[in-house]
Amino acid sequence: MDKIRIVGGNELNGTISISGAKNAALPLMIASLLTDETLTLENVPRLRDVAQLTQILSNHGVDYSVDGKRAGDDSLKGQTLHLTAGEIVDTTAPYELVSKMRASFWVIGPLLARMHQAQVSLPGGCAIGTRPVDFFIDGLRALGADLDIDKGYIVGSCKGGLKGARVNFPKVSVGATHTVLMAATLAKGETVIENAAREPEVVDLANCLKGMGAIIEGAGTDTIHVQGVDRLHAYRHAVIPDRIETGTYAMAVAMTGGKVLLEGARADLLDSAIETLRGAGAEITQTPEGLLVARNGNGIKPVDISTEPFPGFPTDLQAQFMALMTKAQGTSRITENIFENRFMHVQELARLGAKIQLDGQVATIEGVSELHGAQVMATDLRASVSLVIAGLVAQGETTVSRVYHLDRGFERLEDKLSRCGAQIERISA
Ligand code: UD1
Repeated sequence: MDKIRIVGGNELNGTISISGAKNAALPLMIASLLTDETLTLENVPRLRDVAQLTQILSNHGVDYSVDGKRAGDDSLKGQTLHLTAGEIVDTTAPYELVSKMRASFWVIGPLLARMHQAQVSLPGGCAIGTRPVDFFIDGLRALGADLDIDKGYIVGSCKGGLKGARVNFPKVSVGATHTVLMAATLAKGETVIENAAREPEVVDLANCLKGMGAIIEGAGTDTIHVQGVDRLHAYRHAVIPDRIETGTYAMAVAMTGGKVLLEGARADLLDSAIETLRGAGAEITQTPEGLLVARNGNGIKPVDISTEPFPGFPTDLQAQFMALMTKAQGTSRITENIFENRFMHVQELARLGAKIQLDGQVATIEGVSELHGAQVMATDLRASVSLVIAGLVAQGETTVSRVYHLDRGFERLEDKLSRCGAQIERISA
């Protein structure tokens, strides 16, 4: 298994191009199941999760192709994917495929909407909490689907198709919002989704669905109205830039010092993280090319955060921010409100010399003047990159193992960072 080797101590300076958002690309790819015409997606990141999802979709009968290299292309820029679900030949999403990535469970919405049946394995994904699927089941049942759980599968059908309804989620869920939104586009009549997720990825999905012919209002607010239509059609859509990748590199620069242009990044997608980073001492400016991030020589200030659904501080940046706070000049508190088991990076950061105390959902981080390189292990996708951020300033050598977690969500991280002066390399086993 590959490892990442880092020798800490270098500032970051230069340009990092921000990829298309993984968490937008995945539901957009799944939306291809809603039409027999071709959905073309530009700016799709080259990631393991994307490759995994193409396998799952092709098992349903989706044809896919990727544009070859074009003049002026940079290998770190996104790819253009064409997805055609001309005929869905299989409405089962099997355990072997779904267990590797939670988002693939979301195919249940489009399959029920278009084929009126689906058999989808209960999901897997990062082990960051219990991650149940009750909101999906209740939401799809409200739209008229009969759903049962049988031998680890959700088996669903809806004779005559889904029917619009009022769906009120008890708690904000990104995945359940994506799924019910997609399902509602082909349901008969109006669906109202209340307490909907307001994440930019939901807005991106809604924009693409609208381009495909869906009638949707209110995406980006907590109430989304969908008027069902008989069919959707071909469309070409560009995936929004990845706000989590943006925030991650911004935190890396805040950690190491230096000045980096995050090319293509959009500040409006991560206001709360930007405000937090400014509080910690980073200078962040939106330019026409992207976000310019720098840190003056004044060191890192401690800032308390609580993770919240959008527009609050994202749980997907919690581990990275904790890495930054390990070097702050004082004590900070991080409260994780979204997932109950999302502190597995704490013990790995401790191996690098971080001082962190855990009390339930709250971590108290006492900043230290030095971190020291060590062998550490990635435990989940975002946790793995927090170890890289810490390794960039740790004295000596840090080796991060199990980097397959990293490859699920960060496109060529070691290339992007080494182009900016970091001493970082992948060691292929
Ligand atoms: C998505 C993101 C993930 C991010 C998370 C929260 C993708 C591919 N993944 O995950 O990176 O960390 O949003 O921003 O976009 N819940 C239930 N029942 C359900 C569904 C969810 O109790 O049926 C709970 C979850 O356990 C969690 C909370 O709701 O506590 C939010 O989870 P959710 O927004 O659904 O996360 P994902 O969509 O899986």
